[in-house]
Amino acid sequence: MPPTLKPAITFAEKKNLDPAKLVRLYQQAPWAKGRTLEDAREMLRHTDVAVTAWDGDVLIGFGRVLTDYVYRATIWDVIVDQAYQGRGVGTDIVQRILHHPRLKKVELFWLCTRMPGFYEKLGFSSKEQTGMVWARSKQGRQE
Ligand SMILES: CC(C)(COP(=O)(O)OP(=O)(O)OC[C@H]1O[C@@H](n2cnc3c(N)ncnc32)[C@H](O)[C@@H]1OP(=O)(O)O)[C@@H](O)C(=O)NCCC(=O)NCCS
Repeated sequence: MPPTLKPAITFAEKKNLDPAKLVRLYQQAPWAKGRTLEDAREMLRHTDVAVTAWDGDVLIGFGRVLTDYVYRATIWDVIVDQAYQGRGVGTDIVQRILHHPRLKKVELFWLCTRMPGFYEKLGFSSKEQTGMVWARSKQGRQE
């Protein structure tokens, strides 16, 4: 290929990706910065659906789902490499999740987010549902 031609961004459903590539991407998000290779590998093993975006063999976008495939699905860790943001990659990842053939029965997709501007454009609403969280890091020692 001539050096001026850059390969196009491609998308894949890929749970068996190299966790080191994901940990590199995680470094860019404050909420994922400290995640380790070992934990990322285990997380991928237990994730139901993962959508990845690639520039050649460089992982430039990611999003994942935990689900019962019928009633509920939660979307986690949607992230796009800073150098590739603003080009529709994040939108494409979320659309591929929402319209994924294995998730077509799911009644409700849920997410925890601080990016309402991004998700409202994709049809998400914060008006109808509420939620609560239990964070291990916020609990005092019980002993
Ligand atoms: C949020 C994120 C995934 C968006 O990915 P992206 O590829 O840059 O998004 P897109 O190019 O598909 O943008 C789609 C639309 O959302 C808007 N948008 C993108 N990021 C936004 C943000 N942080 N706040 C508000 N709107 C945003 C874009 O302006 C665009 O609007 P337009 O269609 O009117 O031009 C990406 O910015 C990111 O990885 N951020 C850091 C990680 C993070 O915090 N993720 C959220 C976890 S829930």
